[in-house]
Amino acid sequence: MPQDISKSNEIPVFDILPRHVGFIMDGNGRWAKQRGLPRSEGHKEGAKTFRKIGEYAADIGIKYVTFYAFSTENWKRPEAEVNAIMSLFGDYLNEVIERIGENEEKGIKLKFIGDRRGISPELLNLMNYTEKLTENKNKVTLNIAVNYGGRHELTSAVKNIAEKIKNGELSPENIDENLISDYLYTSGQPDPDLIIRPSGEYRLSNFLTWQSAYSELWFSDILWPDFTTEDFNEALRAFEKRNRRFGGI
Ligand code: IPE
Ligand code: IPE
Ligand code: MG
Repeated sequence: MPQDISKSNEIPVFDILPRHVGFIMDGNGRWAKQRGLPRSEGHKEGAKTFRKIGEYAADIGIKYVTFYAFSTENWKRPEAEVNAIMSLFGDYLNEVIERIGENEEKGIKLKFIGDRRGISPELLNLMNYTEKLTENKNKVTLNIAVNYGGRHELTSAVKNIAEKIKNGELSPENIDENLISDYLYTSGQPDPDLIIRPSGEYRLSNFLTWQSAYSELWFSDILWPDFTTEDFNEALRAFEKRNRRFGGI
């Protein structure tokens, strides 16, 4: 029997562990509002949750995790809020660089998914540098989705495939599901087995549109800054009991 992990600091054991878990980090704004704080404070707290959950995922042995940090639609927000989110992102990357020694043990390989156009040159430099710095780590691949949209990702893939056909490097007969997957940011990674969305919203909001075709979904009313490793365990326990049929019987 798996032990009751909520009362101990031990790493729980799961019968079935998803290979890839996606997190839609939502509810930062409402968390701040509930406390009469500016929305940026919610994002700051949400960033702490992100660090904690990312490290915990590595500890329990999940090989791929994806955190939805900023969508292609989030540019609609006030400039000050967008800047606050980007600045927190920069803080995290600087911290990764400063504490690279600690990551030797954690083994986190960082990867950014999303359209890099539109990201400031300073941030882009940090993204490229941290990706390079962690490229040989192999305990967990931690994707951060920034300026990411599932439809945008598919549109870019279609454009790139069309370009190859035009140049004679590909022919329409070559197009199959594997080829399309290869043209996505997550190329080479397994599709998410489990997608977790807190904050009481029951939608995917353009997250991993192609890749989520057969993902198990887990929703909760908890706001992202309040999301704990116990909540994560609860989602993983629920996942253990799911019967995945993929259209079979
Ligand atoms: C964070 O939560 C997700 C991001 C887009 C950065 P929100 O900022 O959407 O929080 P709510 O949904 O307004 O509470
Ligand atoms: C989804 O949250 C995007 C991220 C978590 C980055 P949103 O707050 O943007 O989603 P909607 O607008 O409620 O669907
Ligand atoms: Mg939201």
